[in-house]
Amino acid sequence: MTARALEWVDGRLRVLDQSRLPWDRVYLELSDYRDVVLAIEEMRVRGAPAIGVAAAYGIALGASGIRADGEDEFLARLGEVMKAFAVSRPTAVNLFRSIDRMSTAARGEGIAEIQRALIDEALRIHDEEMAATGQLSELGSELVGDGSMVLTHCNAGPLATAGYGTALGVIIAAGNRGKRVSVLATETRPLLQGARLTAWELQQEGIPVTLITDSMAGHFMQQGKVNCVIVGADRIAANGDVANKIGTYTLAVLAGENGVPFYVAAPTSTIDLSIASGDQIPIEERSPDEVTGIRGIPIAPQGITAANPAFDVTPHRYVGAIITEKGIIGEPYVDGLRAAAGPEP
Ligand code: MRU
Repeated sequence: MTARALEWVDGRLRVLDQSRLPWDRVYLELSDYRDVVLAIEEMRVRGAPAIGVAAAYGIALGASGIRADGEDEFLARLGEVMKAFAVSRPTAVNLFRSIDRMSTAARGEGIAEIQRALIDEALRIHDEEMAATGQLSELGSELVGDGSMVLTHCNAGPLATAGYGTALGVIIAAGNRGKRVSVLATETRPLLQGARLTAWELQQEGIPVTLITDSMAGHFMQQGKVNCVIVGADRIAANGDVANKIGTYTLAVLAGENGVPFYVAAPTSTIDLSIASGDQIPIEERSPDEVTGIRGIPIAPQGITAANPAFDVTPHRYVGAIITEKGIIGEPYVDGLRAAAGPEP
């Protein structure tokens, strides 16, 4: 793994500040849960599974900092901590799954025992994400042929998962199996996760990567240069519709038009069976400043109106397969996703 996105060290959360990569490798040592909320909002930690893990540790930190007279007061204040995380970023369902799990784990004989239980649960969530991303990467590597050129969007690598990665995990696992694989990475405007993070992670892994602007993808597919597209996901609805970084839908349609297989790699913690279709996925709107400037440098006339939806939804008809740690799922997604992510029979 290139670098650890998150680490629990001596009762504190160490976060690799992804907003500073690839230029500076800066670690934030967080002991106040409000700083973890801020790190998620400001995308110092980002990517659906990593957001879920960071929130779990953040809730554990928040719980450890509560001084209360009794259990009722403690639990009421813990509820406030969880609410602060729930409004940090709305699209990645991993965040809400972590909050639910931490809420269920808040049990014990007395406050100290509950605080300990919450740290244990956060560590467990992290371990599970590590294991799930490792497994799905191995399974998905079957879909990558020797000599393939894989197009990916945004960053779905180890940094985004606090584990082995999803889309990049699959690519890296294929490389580790001795397959010759190279990558076309879209820069991913507005925040350049592809240019800054995917290019950096693949370079460190020794996997050949060519950076393109987002608008070049169709051209390379039309020229027959792309063997498959693999992306991650922030939330997958029960019918297989997928929310992922803005621009993913465009890539899926282009892939369909050009006969290029389009795969989504995600742990089952990204599946949301409570919503029937992608229409119900909340899409985060971020500041227009991210579109009108790049790293603080204006690129548009002052006062211009800009829109900044951070994600879009790809209808399941464009998705060739969903790669999870429980197996590779194809149509009908309703059945496959329920079997992979539903309650134990
Ligand atoms: O806004 P970001 O950078 O958090 O968006 C990340 C993505 O869209 C990723 O593709 C997704 O979270 C999958 S990460 C394994």
